[in-house]
Amino acid sequence: MSNKKHVEMTAEDLQYQYEYMAKVKNILQHRYPHPPMAHVHSFGCQANVSDGEKIKGMLAEMGYGFTDITDDADFILYNTCAIRKGAEDRVFGNVGELQHNKRNRKEMIIGLCGCMMQQKHVAEKIKKSYPHVDLVFGTHALHKFPQLLYEALTQKQRVFCVEDSDNVIAEGLPIRRDGRFKAWIQIMYGCDNFCTYCIVPYVRGREHSRRPEQIVAEARELVHQGYKEITLLGQNVNSYGKGLEGEVSFSKLLRMINDIEGDFRIRFMTSHPKDCTHELIDTIAQCEKVCRHIHLPVQSGSNRILKLMNRHYTREQYLELVRYAKAKMPDITFTSDIIVGFPSETHEDLLQTIDLIKQVEYDALFTFIYSKRKGTKAAEMDDPVTDKEKSHWFKELQSAQTEVGSRHNAALVGKTLRVLADGVAKLGKGYLTGRTDSNAVVDFKAEEEWIGKFVNVHITKALSWAVLGEIAD
Ligand code: SAH
Ligand code: SF4
Ligand code: F3S
Repeated sequence: MSNKKHVEMTAEDLQYQYEYMAKVKNILQHRYPHPPMAHVHSFGCQANVSDGEKIKGMLAEMGYGFTDITDDADFILYNTCAIRKGAEDRVFGNVGELQHNKRNRKEMIIGLCGCMMQQKHVAEKIKKSYPHVDLVFGTHALHKFPQLLYEALTQKQRVFCVEDSDNVIAEGLPIRRDGRFKAWIQIMYGCDNFCTYCIVPYVRGREHSRRPEQIVAEARELVHQGYKEITLLGQNVNSYGKGLEGEVSFSKLLRMINDIEGDFRIRFMTSHPKDCTHELIDTIAQCEKVCRHIHLPVQSGSNRILKLMNRHYTREQYLELVRYAKAKMPDITFTSDIIVGFPSETHEDLLQTIDLIKQVEYDALFTFIYSKRKGTKAAEMDDPVTDKEKSHWFKELQSAQTEVGSRHNAALVGKTLRVLADGVAKLGKGYLTGRTDSNAVVDFKAEEEWIGKFVNVHITKALSWAVLGEIAD
């Protein structure tokens, strides 16, 4: 075993939390004539959404029902994101508005959890300036949620639990999934990469992987329940398995899940380019259930900026990887995250990024203007470019991508592709929307009974955000 910690919640600790769930249930039965309602909202990435599903699983076990309307809720919990200033501002705004909920329903509980709360300065601000918040806990305390809620319900004082702790992996807690045919499985938690702009390693702790047998059992159960798409989640799935007993790489895990019998597909995110190997690409090519799409965030196309970001790859290495994958799988697609306006970035650096976008021909891009995060290395770097200039660059980058993306859609016309129907399309009644294995958005005419099923769709027309099609025979 390596020196990385792998601490699984003990059976006693798990039992302890189940006892708290029973205690809370008992309190609620005495306090409310009907089941009390909870409103849980997760901001941020899929890791948070997946944590939110665990929280809802525990709440259901404690006897709560669920509502989308904050005014109807006896318990409101915001699961927060700290990735950019905009994300934090949104949470502060939403929390401020909850004051009136508390005024109208004095006995209700307002809670905040997730990445923002793992930062000391944020927890302090909540303590001082948001007295209507009763319960605050960070990402490290997720598995103690029943105990913390019990304390909030029974104590006169506010409950704060935001200390850093061991990287405890909680297996065996209940999950209440949002989707009926698409599911997330977290295969690892935390991040060790310390990209200089990024807050995640500080708020999510060190990287630690779940045991493969637990993951495979969860996947098998989902397939048994009829789930059609499983997305494996981690900040850097390519380094899955470090610190675990035995030799298990991400490629090996993919093969194990691919071997589960059933009609379903596998996605994963996020792949860090520094750890994405030819072996992984060969594995995707050989596993028929793994989607032909890699989300491979490049962040920048300039070697100088990549170095300052601590990304550990060059544009040449990245492009080689993309070329290798396209040679193995001509139908593979790529998506990426890009940061515009990293400290000291010049227009010349931006042009390098635009050049890379054109070479890779991304299917879609998630572009962000750099946001300074307290405590990260980049926060100490000189950042002379104005916000106005950065937003010009941002538009320049987006229009380059719009051109690349529309070429992609045009190339799909005339093909017949397998689509998992997600729901009703924006086009309105009579149209459904879904995604192909290679992640293209397809809108097509079909009855709602197709939702949650695989459909072969003949592509007839390219739009800017999607392609249009008709069900093939
Ligand atoms: N683990 C993933 C990304 C997680 S965060 C990876 O390594 O790619 C999602 C995206 O948010 C990042 O890819 C990055 O593009 C963006 N991001 C992270 N920190 C940021 C910051 N301080 N300012 C702007 N964008 C940021
Ligand atoms: Fe952040 Fe980098 Fe870790 Fe991704 S790999 S979560 S960008 S530190
Ligand atoms: Fe945000 Fe935390 Fe994800 S900071 S992006 S919710 S890991």
